[in-house]
Amino acid sequence: MAFLDLPQLVRAGGSVQLPGSKSISNRVLLLAALSGGVTEIRHLLASDDTARMLDALRTLGVECLEDAEGGVRVTGCGGRFPVRAAQLFLGNAGTAFRSLTAALALSGGDYVLEGVPRMHERPIGDLVDALRQLGAEIDYLAKPGFPPLRLKAATIKPGGVVRVRGDVSSQFLTGLLMALPLTGVENTVEVEGELISKPYVEITLALMARFGVRVARQGWQAFSVPAAGYVSPGAFAVEGDASSASYFLAAGAISANADDPVRVTGVGRASIQGDVRFVEALQAMGASIEMGDDWIAASRPPQGLRGIELDCNHIPDAAMTLAVTALFATGETRLTNIASWRVKETDRIAAMATELRKLGATLEEGDDFLALRPPAGGLRPAIVDTYDDHRMAMCFSLAAFGTPLRINGPGCTAKTFPDYFARLRAIAVPAPVIAIDGPSASGKGAVSARVAAALGFHYLDSGALYRLTALAARERGVDWDDEAGVADIARTLDAAFRAGEIWLNGKAAGAAIREEDISAGASKVAALPKVREALLFRQRAFHRAPGLVGDGRDMASVVFPKACLKVFLTASAAVRAERRYKQLQEKGWAADYAAIRAEIDARDTRDASRAVAPLRQAPDARLLDTDGVGIEEAVARLLGWYRRACAVRRDRAVFLRRRPGDCGQGAAQVGKPNITEIGWA
Ligand code: DC
Repeated sequence: MAFLDLPQLVRAGGSVQLPGSKSISNRVLLLAALSGGVTEIRHLLASDDTARMLDALRTLGVECLEDAEGGVRVTGCGGRFPVRAAQLFLGNAGTAFRSLTAALALSGGDYVLEGVPRMHERPIGDLVDALRQLGAEIDYLAKPGFPPLRLKAATIKPGGVVRVRGDVSSQFLTGLLMALPLTGVENTVEVEGELISKPYVEITLALMARFGVRVARQGWQAFSVPAAGYVSPGAFAVEGDASSASYFLAAGAISANADDPVRVTGVGRASIQGDVRFVEALQAMGASIEMGDDWIAASRPPQGLRGIELDCNHIPDAAMTLAVTALFATGETRLTNIASWRVKETDRIAAMATELRKLGATLEEGDDFLALRPPAGGLRPAIVDTYDDHRMAMCFSLAAFGTPLRINGPGCTAKTFPDYFARLRAIAVPAPVIAIDGPSASGKGAVSARVAAALGFHYLDSGALYRLTALAARERGVDWDDEAGVADIARTLDAAFRAGEIWLNGKAAGAAIREEDISAGASKVAALPKVREALLFRQRAFHRAPGLVGDGRDMASVVFPKACLKVFLTASAAVRAERRYKQLQEKGWAADYAAIRAEIDARDTRDASRAVAPLRQAPDARLLDTDGVGIEEAVARLLGWYRRACAVRRDRAVFLRRRPGDCGQGAAQVGKPNITEIGWA
């Protein structure tokens, strides 16, 4: 999928069962493969990164049998991989690449390890230097210090002291520690430089202990790995992923009510993952947190969130979630000691700064810190790039609690959380939207605007965007059937809807776009697929809290297919021509009934017969024929439908409760409420 459009989300609440921890899954797979005996692993994370590790282990001759419930049965090879020469592709899985490099370099075979281009830009020299001290023979196949690598069978030196740098990636130390038992002798690892991301090394030590190898450590400087082989614990249950939990907990802190918090299950007080300390950061921001042994719940504090300054060295991944959460906090948030972000799936400091700016935040970035302030006037709709980085996609989805947004390349969440967006949808309530379609002069503009006013909702006159595009093309001398040219204009249209007027390039354009030749031009440019595509996100960017009424031709079918109410508003061509004729006469303009009728027929035909998004009643839309029906009555009928469709169709009782601010003041005028689970745009 090239992109995913998210409407503004108004509230989160409910439970999420977390997928298995990536850090634990990949470590346990390798330890189970290296140990003697069979390990039954439950709740293993199913994702790209774990698939890369499983593929690699199978290539190395390790039997890994998956069952339907997400369990894997690994038959360990007792420290000696059956396949002694192989080529392994490890994608962009840093955990798999670093730990397999260490294990294979010490296992006496001949292997080539490679990954995606980004993996080849992520440093590995410090680990190679450490392994060479043990006698390992490793060649760089491209750039020195970076993958791909060739590992050759070598004579490993017996015991001693190995030095490894700890200030670029803790995965070097992790890889080394897990591999050292393969040497069959005791070794001591000394860390050079300040060790970063210590909690990840704690996970490594805890898991090695579960597999029978107890490492003695002196502070974070020296680690003694005994001459013991790994022994399978038999069964192992992977806990939920604490980094993945951060997105849901942040959603709770941003928008959940205290009586319906967001609750994650699978991690809690008893977790061995450092990222559970993300909740301390949320608490420092003011969030209400509750915690049990294997669950955590978060909700928004009554006084709202506040910015913090935090050294994030211990939670490098979850800290990305803090940066986006800071968009909903008062004041500045400063995240420091995050230099490792620069060598992750992408340069995360640069990527975060660029994308946060698109939403209107003020940013300051340095080699190892990021400071930001949210925009004063609220978040701006934006098209966010994700740089093939799963955490970029997941943390930016939280911005939807402040604005509609488009996320490019959302599929990258597959690295660690393939169904992330479906899980988010299950706990998030989008702003409601009513889609009203119909032919020209059916009165849908007037009816839609009144319905929006009655509900206190935003109003999107989508036809005006096509009209503005036609007018802008005319002004720039671009032909209406020049598809690429008109689409460019549509994409960069400087249009605004303000103070009851429509503006084009800073000039009032309300009257000009209603002229007959521009009406014909609008209908022509609207038939061009590239133009419709260019205007799609611009229309969805109106899908804001407290709600939206959109009028047009394809509101129900294309732009807002999940609208909670869809209406096809029409009238016979004769009645519509008469209405238009009267309107023109009232304005004192010359009007010819026969010409108007002919133009309406021509536009109906064009709008209904074009290849893309033709005008027609959506199968799930209600029909409102306004022949002989006045505006007041049409509005009242529509509001009645809305109350029934959107107030009744709810899966969860919680959505029935109305709270101040949910739906704008106007909601009071139509009696009962409004919020419904309507899915994404
Ligand atoms: O609703 P209107 O008459 O202002 O629309 C002007 C033209 O734009 C009309 O000929 C059809 C086209 N249009 C469209 O194709 N899709 C929409 N959602 C809205 C309008």
